[in-house]
Amino acid sequence: MKDINILGIESSCDETAAAVVRNGREVLSNVINSQIETHTIYGGVVPEIASRKHIEVIVQVVREALKKASMTISDIDAVAVTYGPGLVGPLLVGVSYAKAYAYGCGKPLVGVHHIEGHIAANYIDNKELEPPFMCLIVSGGHTHLVNVRAYGEYEILGRTMDDAAGEAYDKVARAIGLGYPGGPKIDRAAKEGDPEAIPFPRAHIEGDEYDFSFSGLKSAVLNYLNSCEMKGIQVNTADVAASFQAAVVDVLVGNSMKALEAHNADKFAIAGGVASNSALREAMEGACRERNVRFYRPSPILCTDNGAMIAAAAYHEYIKGNFSGLSLNAVPNLRLGQKQNKP
Ligand code: KG4
Ligand code: ZN
Repeated sequence: MKDINILGIESSCDETAAAVVRNGREVLSNVINSQIETHTIYGGVVPEIASRKHIEVIVQVVREALKKASMTISDIDAVAVTYGPGLVGPLLVGVSYAKAYAYGCGKPLVGVHHIEGHIAANYIDNKELEPPFMCLIVSGGHTHLVNVRAYGEYEILGRTMDDAAGEAYDKVARAIGLGYPGGPKIDRAAKEGDPEAIPFPRAHIEGDEYDFSFSGLKSAVLNYLNSCEMKGIQVNTADVAASFQAAVVDVLVGNSMKALEAHNADKFAIAGGVASNSALREAMEGACRERNVRFYRPSPILCTDNGAMIAAAAYHEYIKGNFSGLSLNAVPNLRLGQKQNKP
């Protein structure tokens, strides 16, 4: 069978990324231009600045991805792009660029759901992984527990009712003075702290046992910090980080294992920026091993936003002939499983 090379473009938040992936599994190039330094001074992503930065670098990022793959556009079979969910301005930059590029070069266009991309990152690093499997997607914008029934076919079992797991990491990191982005900083600080030092709450949603909630935990951390300040007690940042992280990991692992058992799933994967968290990876791996469930996770570079995961997800749409038309638009609140704009 002929090799299928897909150019994947991602710009839904603060990374401008492009990659070339062969047959949905083999990364030929993966270029990521992160804007973290720009947004750090504001303590979080500023959407308008993110859009402008995407415009400045997208041409160069795509050129570099092709060059690193030793390809020209004529070697590419399709152009794939994230069209939602995400920040509307940043999404529009990627979508407009991909549409123009695909049209100009006469290549098919494939619109990809961002979460589908995160899930597909697992296909790259785990060559033998095929649906059905269960997947927990934990990022700055999403916390979803999903049954991947087949390629491109998803059943959402649980999701966050308020903050995403990564969002909670970022907010707590800011409160304890670690800065942005909070996830990696809390991960590091927690290694020096006691996860049992402060008994932060683990939220369980009555009647929706696979759903998540992190805003109560975030408030509990803020209340703890305030009460320390009022009593003149010095806060041990490492203990707060470790105790907060333990609460997040407990809930993520707890709900995932409940769902695994109820559905008799024998394969479990994690994905998204928070999936590179060392405590989560270790706890999830241990819990899966205890239950004889095969555990999959992408390498950290494929956990954060990247173009390779978009190209990997697009491959399965390409095979099915599911292309997007030039009416493809950015959809900031796109739901998983909701397809838009066929030609
Ligand atoms: O998937 P991603 O790059 O972007 C979104 O789709 O949101 O995820 C970014 C999120 C941020 O909230 C960041 O703090 C978090 O992932 N993150 C981590 C770690 N690395 C990144 N959270 C916990 N531990 C980490 N090591
Ligand atoms: Zn993401």
